[in-house]
Amino acid sequence: MAEPTPGERTMNHLDAVLTVNGRRRRYRGDGAMPLLWFLRDELRLTGTKYGCGEGQCGACTVHVAGRAARSCVTPMSAVAGRAVRTIEGLARPVPAPAPGGATAVAPPQGDEALHPVQQAWLDEDVAQCGYCQAGQIMAAVDLLQRMPRPTDADIDRAITNLCRCGTQMRVRRAIHRAAALMLVAAKQGGAP
Ligand code: FES
Ligand code: FES
Repeated sequence: MAEPTPGERTMNHLDAVLTVNGRRRRYRGDGAMPLLWFLRDELRLTGTKYGCGEGQCGACTVHVAGRAARSCVTPMSAVAGRAVRTIEGLARPVPAPAPGGATAVAPPQGDEALHPVQQAWLDEDVAQCGYCQAGQIMAAVDLLQRMPRPTDADIDRAITNLCRCGTQMRVRRAIHRAAALMLVAAKQGGAP
């Protein structure tokens, strides 16, 4: 059978390919189904959370084509042929040391380096119950990709994700810390 083009549709049925965290995925089903269900129920990427289901709280925030999107109100038809990144796709595998390299202790197989935003979140001990945090982090990464040195006002405007535990002040501090980490990484030629 011929491979469908991204987003090929017949009636309400969508037959689409997309990438999720760099892996090619295929979706066959209702084009109106929210991306959140595909991620959680079909791919078992349960780091992305369901909160309000109405695009209000931000718990379900992922990246679509590099920008933050609320996956509970993003239909599968809108992500056909596109790249989706979830919280599970933020950390990077640690490269193996070069043969004869000076690394004293080689990282274990499959070890991952946290994204600077994840590191800053740990350093600032942001999470309380944790439910909103994946969405907060994905929103913060999006902000810092667009605005490497945001002010408090920039952060307050951009991060509209809700937190019932009141972590907003720590979210703010973590974003400033992550901005500094990312600037250092950029100077050293690293790509978060
Ligand atoms: S669950 Fe998507 S915005 Fe609340
Ligand atoms: S940490 Fe509990 S809702 Fe945000």
